[in-house]
Amino acid sequence: MIWEMWQYLTTPTKFTEAKTMGYLKEAIAMAARAKRCQPQWNAHYEHCQQAILQAANRAVQKRKVLILGAGSLNDIPLTELCASFQQVILVDLVFLDSARKLALKYPNLSLVEHDVTESLEWLSSGRDMVQQPQAWLDDPQIDLVVSLNLVTQIPLIPVKWLMSDYGLNEEDADIVGKQLIVAHLNYLKQFSGEVCLIADRNSREFNVAGDVVDEFDPWWDIEPPRAQTTWDWEIIPLGEASNETWQKNTVGVSFL
Ligand SMILES: C[S@@+](CC[C@H](N)C(=O)[O-])C[C@H]1O[C@@H](n2cnc3c(N)ncnc32)[C@H](O)[C@@H]1O
Repeated sequence: MIWEMWQYLTTPTKFTEAKTMGYLKEAIAMAARAKRCQPQWNAHYEHCQQAILQAANRAVQKRKVLILGAGSLNDIPLTELCASFQQVILVDLVFLDSARKLALKYPNLSLVEHDVTESLEWLSSGRDMVQQPQAWLDDPQIDLVVSLNLVTQIPLIPVKWLMSDYGLNEEDADIVGKQLIVAHLNYLKQFSGEVCLIADRNSREFNVAGDVVDEFDPWWDIEPPRAQTTWDWEIIPLGEASNETWQKNTVGVSFL
């Protein structure tokens, strides 16, 4: 708890929304969960790294690679990407000290704090307006873009915020959630280089006997692009959040 508090107080954030809306708190909680669930999460990280390497192989030129939702950097093959691309640009709203320290090892790697929705300024002040993101679309040297375990996460904090702090009703909240996902997909499709989307496809909760007790669609009923490869990620093992249930997500890789 003290370590979590220390990280909260000492992590620099470019965007006020990172703190006010809860992104920093979420990043710290996720880092702690990653440590506790290491055996289950390592396999997922390895799958992500393999998928990114496969995407890198498909890129015909290797000038700049842009990774959106880089977070902890645990799911990124940093050494290989930095060896094959001239510039590696890792984007997230929040980077904890562990990611910042790791990044220092690679001279051609940069961490960029950026809001991939380009809408948080509006949303944080209660305006349910979703913009079409534009960043890096004018950079012809981006040869590979990876959206990394990000698209289904994008709506979660803004929608919760609008509902709790601005009384947005469920119907309008649902529209904002869908708009954020669609805007991200449209954004990715506008890049001229190779684009790889890594994202969860479904989420199931099981009881101790292994029966499905709940299932939800992380895509808010938006149809995701077809996945070429999938794997299961035991995201909440038994005992992590409850002694009665555990959760498994199926993660898929698409090339857009
Ligand atoms: C499920 S995590 C995946 C992160 C990373 N790939 C990992 O496993 O550590 C989703 C990431 O998306 C980031 N994120 C969510 N909304 C964002 C936004 N609007 N702009 C930039 N990053 C955002 C979060 O900060 C978080 O690091």
